Amino acid sequence: MTAQDPLAKIAEDILRENDRGSYTVPTKGLYPFQWNWDSCLTALGQRHYDEARAWTEIETLFAHQWPCGMVPHIIFHLYDDGYFPGPEVWSTGRPVPTSGITQPAVAGFALRRLFDRASNRAEAEARVRALLPKVAAWHRWFFATRDPKGEGLVAIIHPWESGRDNSIDWDVSFERVPTEGIAPYTRRDTQHANPEHRPTKAQYDRYLWLVEHFRSLGWDTAKLHDASPFQVVDPGFNAILLRACADLADLAEALGEPALAAENRAFAARGLAALERLWSVEHGQYLCGDRTTGALIDSASVGGLLAAFAAIPPARAQAIAASIEAHGARFRVPSHAPADPRFDAKRYWRGPVWLVVNYMIADGLARAGQTAAAAAITRSSLDLIHESGFAEYYDPTTGEPLGGGRFTWTAAMVLEFLAMERA
Ligand code: GLC
Repeated sequence: MTAQDPLAKIAEDILRENDRGSYTVPTKGLYPFQWNWDSCLTALGQRHYDEARAWTEIETLFAHQWPCGMVPHIIFHLYDDGYFPGPEVWSTGRPVPTSGITQPAVAGFALRRLFDRASNRAEAEARVRALLPKVAAWHRWFFATRDPKGEGLVAIIHPWESGRDNSIDWDVSFERVPTEGIAPYTRRDTQHANPEHRPTKAQYDRYLWLVEHFRSLGWDTAKLHDASPFQVVDPGFNAILLRACADLADLAEALGEPALAAENRAFAARGLAALERLWSVEHGQYLCGDRTTGALIDSASVGGLLAAFAAIPPARAQAIAASIEAHGARFRVPSHAPADPRFDAKRYWRGPVWLVVNYMIADGLARAGQTAAAAAITRSSLDLIHESGFAEYYDPTTGEPLGGGRFTWTAAMVLEFLAMERA
């Protein structure tokens, strides 16, 4: 449908090239399996040229949901030794191997968007109807296992769950994670991408300690939260979940499932109230909270801006728009505040721009009436692609493309941004 725009043509080519039939890999080489939130956001790109294929992407993900309700962060569909840690390290005992942790719950939002924009209404209704109870079970699992005291917000127990692997947000809490006794290992990511732009060895040791620790507990997801020395309440992660709960509630209502609607509306309302405890007047954004100490984490990352994706109070959305403006970066939105001395323009989630995060912030700000701020993020994202192509992430000061190339979710977001500009 968007064939007239040369960027749309390239984006579609990338999505097709990384399509493995019923799921899409994030990029060749670096990430050869199916990733959870990548797939949900990828479906939003696929809908522009093949609606049926977009539904399949999310259905494949949920076909690998655990009986407890968790949807794992990686599905290892086919053997590939190009990625570490692979299925033998996770050893979760699933029929098709998967990792044992989860990722941002963007599926509910993606379903709603696919449903709202679908041209084949009958197909959309049938496919959402089948997915609805599965997504609802995932949301229920989150609040049951990751919010055991009923605070309204969920904790991540591994940085990989946030999707922002090496954010500065985790540094202080990560000190509490030991490294003694981990099995020797060889990283594969640094063979595909520049090591200077990736997480450090000290971080990898801790990522692996947590995986081995959870494995030693038999991947019983009811036990892992309390057993983890790393429990962080990330406002971005929670905002995605709360938005998904609200969107799922709307879908459930439309499809005549009042109980699921009420349950998800309650999750969203309680969570939005609790999110206010993470607001920082000083930073003009939300911050992460460390659940093991109860303290706010002094780190102005994009996680606290991404909170705009949920229905936060309008004054908060306005303050977030102003904070993004104040960053003054050439390209929006840096994954960490450039004024912070810890900002690192090229190292993964410690400074670079990621288009998926831009998309969710722009969507949330537009809904909150911050239309100029949303349009500026959309334009900046497309400028970046024009200048630097379809990379994994970008240096916000120079626009340099970084990490993997011909990247799936970047391409999907370009199709969405082009549609947003046309609208
Ligand atoms: C990296 C990113 C994560 C993403 C994955 C696959 O681990 O930090 O957010 O899901 O790559 O693209």
